[in-house]
Parts: sequence; structure tokens; C-alpha cells
Amino acid sequence: MRTQRSTIDETVRVFHEQFGNQGDLHCGWSPGRVNLIGEYTDLNNGFVLPMAIDLGICVVARLRAKPGMTVYASKYQQSVDLSLAVAEYTDMPSWAHYVAGVAVLSQESGCEFSGFDIVVNGNLPIGGGVSSSAALCVATALAIQSATGWDLEPLATAQLCQVVEHRFAGVKCGIMDQMACRMGKADSALFIDCASYESKSVPIAPGHVELLVVDSGVPRSLHASEYNSRGNECEMAMQAIQSAGFIVENLRAVTPEMLEQAGPTMADRLLRRARHVVTENLRVLSALHALDLGRFDKLGQLMYQSHESLRDDFNVSVGELDHIVASAKDCDGVLGARLTGAGFGGNAIVMTRKGASEDVERSIRSSFAKRFDRIPQTHRVGHSNEAQGYSLNA
Ligand code: GLA
Repeated sequence: MRTQRSTIDETVRVFHEQFGNQGDLHCGWSPGRVNLIGEYTDLNNGFVLPMAIDLGICVVARLRAKPGMTVYASKYQQSVDLSLAVAEYTDMPSWAHYVAGVAVLSQESGCEFSGFDIVVNGNLPIGGGVSSSAALCVATALAIQSATGWDLEPLATAQLCQVVEHRFAGVKCGIMDQMACRMGKADSALFIDCASYESKSVPIAPGHVELLVVDSGVPRSLHASEYNSRGNECEMAMQAIQSAGFIVENLRAVTPEMLEQAGPTMADRLLRRARHVVTENLRVLSALHALDLGRFDKLGQLMYQSHESLRDDFNVSVGELDHIVASAKDCDGVLGARLTGAGFGGNAIVMTRKGASEDVERSIRSSFAKRFDRIPQTHRVGHSNEAQGYSLNA
């Protein structure tokens, strides 16, 4: 796997090839993230515990006088011309929506520029639950901010990137991914209270555990509609709980006792959706406590429970992810495993004891290959390089 440094160097080289080597170049780097625990809780004003990782997206940008943007994506060897006058773009590759969206929203929020030449590159797996789209938005935002001198707070940058998902990709996501990518610190998970947007870094000293990301290889083609439908179901579950007589504004405020009382009045599907969110919030708080005590074994147990809840109550897992988690559980040295991100395919994370991840990786790959007749992509991920935007000429 290429490192951050070599990825940035390569992006600059591609930029020179595509656009020549005059002018000041600016770089935006954003890590991807894994979510240790707290899935679909951000949508319900709850708690999450993601962690930025050492794989990410790099954007190299140069201001230009000609209005609009020319964006080249190294991975797809594809170039797109964008007019920033058109706010909603339909006819373009999906990755380009994110770059266009960040540029348009930055301008709408007061950032002044006429146009950009941009190259997008990265070493982060794309479209698999490690926040490639949020990382692309954050990296684009930071490159634009560095080039224009427009200063936007990290939280406001994360919020701008969230609106890009809503408006330009049609995914009504929460704030977790964008905050994790923009604000995640090295050697730490980021605990976020999604009601207040308050966050705190939770140190995870390197040397205690290792993390493995395993890609199920299942494409998430219906991701936006399935994802949004889970959000709607949470809303309906909350209304059902209100109809049962409880004064609550979101599922964050619902306790297991309330759910027990309201349960018999609710449709089974809505009860299960609510039960996932209510129990998942409690698991995040327990995970935080476990980390405080250095109890990674306890965190691991909570990860397994989270996966079961996502599989049985929230129904966002698939057979391939279940298989990865089950085969991880059979390996020596594994502390916990679960699907990470929105599900419907994408990746699982496996947390192992220090020194165990290489053997675990081998054995999960071989078990998966026996069952599904193909070898899954795996990545042993390290702790993050933080998001940054800077001039490459300085
Ligand atoms: C996606 C969304 C996040 C969050 C997760 C599920 O990653 O972007 O906001 O809802 O799914 O926890």
C-alpha cells in the first residue's frame, strides 16, 4: 500500500502531466475512517466512536482565472470539466459530484475564486464504508481553503461536506464521517456527541491492538435509497414512541424501559430499528468506558454485539460481512469484529491483539475464498495522519 508521502508525490507528478508545472499548487489530504462502534446513531442525535486511519485521499489544486474547474481523477484516468454556475449536477461521474459540490458550497458560503485545475488521487479503498466520499470532500475543501486563504473552522468544514452529501449525492447522512475525517487526531478515536457536535479525542496508544479492514466486495448499488430508508424508519419509530405517550424528540432520548413499554404498540420492524439505535448508543458509552480502562477485550465484545444488532435488528448486513465476522471470531488473537459504516456490503473491521493481525488476515482470506470463491481485499490499517491543507510551494 502506498504511503501518504508517496501518494502526494504521485499526485503532484500527475498534476504536472495533466496541467503543466506553472503556478502555485495546494494540497488537501484527508484520512478515511473506520467506525469502532456507533452505527446509525449519528442520524438520531446519538454517540459515535470513529477513528481516522492512515489511508486517505489527496487533492492537488491550482487556482486559475478561467471560470469553472477541470478535475482529473487518477484512479479512473478520467477528466471532467465543471461549470460552477450550475448548482445541481446530474450528468457526471459520481466522484465528480463531491468535488463540484464542495466548490459550489464554498463559493456560496463566501469563498472567492474563479476556477481551479484539480487532480484527485488516494490510497483509500473507494465506496466500501471507510468514508472515501467524506475524505474526498474534506481533501477538496482543504485544498480550496489553502489556495484561497478562506479560513473555515474544522467543524464548519465538516458540516459543509455533510451538506454536499445531502445536496449533491442524495445521501441524507449524519455528521460522523465528515467530523472523523476532518477532526480525527493521530493515535486516537474521536468520540462525538451528534446532538451538540461536541467531540473529544480518545487516545488509543499504538502497540495495544491492530486493526484489519476486510472488504466484502459486495457493491453498494442501492446504498443511497437503502440508507435514506433507514433514516425514515428511525423517524417513524420515534413517532410511534411519541404516540405511545412518551415526550421524546429523537431516538437518543429513548431509554430501554420506554421501548419496552412502547414496543407492543409498534410495528415489529420499527421496534427493531429503534432497539438497535437505543442499544447501540449504550454500547458506545460502554466502549468509551472500556477504552478509559484499557479494556480492549470489552470493546471487542461490544463490537460483536453491535454487529449482531446491525444484522438482526437494523438489517444492514449481508452474508459476506457476517461470514467475515464469524470467521474472525474463530481466530486466535481476535478481540472483536463488526461491519463498519453503512453496511449493505462494504467493509468489516477486525480488532486483534498486537502482533496477531497478519495471521488473522491470512485465515480470514482463506475462509472467505473457500466460501465465496474469491479472495477479499484486506488492509491492515494504522492510526491516522490528520487532515491538512497546505501550499506545496512554501
Ligand atoms: C454512513 C454515513 C454516516 C453514518 C453511517 C452509519 O457512513 O455517512 O453518517 O450514518 O453510515 O453509521
